[in-house]
Amino acid sequence: MNSPKGLELVERDAGGVDLAFRADVLAGLAEQQKAIPARWFYDDAGSQLFEDITRLPEYYPTRAETEILRARAGEIAQLIGPGRAVVEFGSGSSVKTPLLLSAIAPAAYVPLDIAGDFLRAAAADLAAKFPGLPVWPVEADFMRRVELPDAVEGQPKLGFFPGSTIGNMVARTATDLLRSMRETLGVGALLLIGMDLVKDTDVLIAAYDDAAGVTARFNRNLIHRINRELDGDIPAELFAHEARWNDTYARIEMHLVAGADVSFTVSGRRFAMLAGESIHTENSHKFTRRTANMLLAAGGWEPRARWTDSENRFSLLLAEARPPRSAP
Ligand code: AVI
Repeated sequence: MNSPKGLELVERDAGGVDLAFRADVLAGLAEQQKAIPARWFYDDAGSQLFEDITRLPEYYPTRAETEILRARAGEIAQLIGPGRAVVEFGSGSSVKTPLLLSAIAPAAYVPLDIAGDFLRAAAADLAAKFPGLPVWPVEADFMRRVELPDAVEGQPKLGFFPGSTIGNMVARTATDLLRSMRETLGVGALLLIGMDLVKDTDVLIAAYDDAAGVTARFNRNLIHRINRELDGDIPAELFAHEARWNDTYARIEMHLVAGADVSFTVSGRRFAMLAGESIHTENSHKFTRRTANMLLAAGGWEPRARWTDSENRFSLLLAEARPPRSAP
């Protein structure tokens, strides 16, 4: 692996606390409907638990998207062409990234992730699988425009954002992210993005509330992270994992529901919750062909191709960063 250039570091205080994490948690716990952005699930333990989720029998998205990449590798490669620098938003530790890289003959691979240790491990793994492929990991919050390593300047780019992670954002944030990706990658870049599809509610609920309780552990890990990193004393065992379908916004919501009246401290601030109140920890939006296209267009990306798996559960879309132009 090459040594990373253009490294961006997370902002921390003198005690090592991630300032953005603390700000999000304190602001979110002060709301009437308490809510913490889902991106904070992914410390090392959370990233590992998410990997475990992807192997659960109920959690179909990973298998469905992998099926698409395997079955359509030829078509995808033809549309993308060789010689692109693949910029992955999130570090690829699954089989999806190798599938894409072996299909398209890329010029370089640039994984971007905020979880530094996980990023470096995944990048080293990838570099070992693809000897000769320059790998430039960048530790960064990809919600903002990211400065890419000098080595890939001038190379055509392919953004890769699998897993329907875009679905974890509300429409405005998702649009902002797509715009930032466009700024990071430049006009003319391509984006290969996974988007999970609207389907039977029971199938969706089971995928987010599995029988083995792995998703519950993933959800509660956020409390452990807050307690550890933000000097908190939230009684994790009092909070139950709940997955709900919100039909208005076509999304699964995850909540941590207080089983009793409770008060706790985080970073020196006191918070109280009544039994039955929840901390809303994740949205996972599900899309139709039209809502997926509209979201891409709102972010400045022109949809070019779309594939689904054999059971029509998941979609993979290819879009192009279009130059700015006035309506219509
Ligand atoms: C990362 N993201 C796309 C997952 C999802 O399906 O929304 C996170 C997840 N949460 C619970 N299970 C999986």
